[in-house]
Amino acid sequence: MHQDVERVLYSAEEIAQRCKELGAQITEDYKKRGETPLLVALLKGSVPFLADIMREIDLKLEFDCMDVSSYHGGTESVGDLKINKDLDCSLEGVSVLLVEDIVDTGRTLSKVKSLLKNKGAKEVKVVTLLDKPARRVVEIKPDYVGFTIENEFVIGYGLDYKQWYRNLPYVGILKASVYE
Ligand code: PRP
Repeated sequence: MHQDVERVLYSAEEIAQRCKELGAQITEDYKKRGETPLLVALLKGSVPFLADIMREIDLKLEFDCMDVSSYHGGTESVGDLKINKDLDCSLEGVSVLLVEDIVDTGRTLSKVKSLLKNKGAKEVKVVTLLDKPARRVVEIKPDYVGFTIENEFVIGYGLDYKQWYRNLPYVGILKASVYE
């Protein structure tokens, strides 16, 4: 275990198992509805989850990535959302499955959902590895959740503190001494 980690919350094995379950559920749901999703991952935190979950979904699908941040001035913006990297493909009539590492206040998700609908998406569903409902400010519920967590500072498997720890293969709780 990394020296800055207080304890492991979800091991690499537990995450892999949950990805299998979620992938099977998503496959079944979309097959039933006759839909093929476009996976849209929000950079950078969702990269490891995207890589794992997409290989557990047995559907003919495509994926794309976008990078957004809260708007602090600049030209390209939707509401107060700044688009650092937009999608490459058209969303007209597309069923989007947003891939997130964590839903915290829900602000990002809520804004991105509106943005994608404005771009013509037929539907926008959400799969997130982690859900932290205790911190919610905007009322929003992801459609597929890997794990529901308490209000703790989590890192690893894509999640960062100052851009570090994204490469840890597990989700862990960061030692308070690192950020205090
Ligand atoms: C994180 C995470 C979500 C968002 C969740 O992204 O990946 O997109 O914050 O927070 P919210 O529910 O309060 O909006 P971040 O902006 O830190 O970028 P990153 O993915 O590059 O780490």
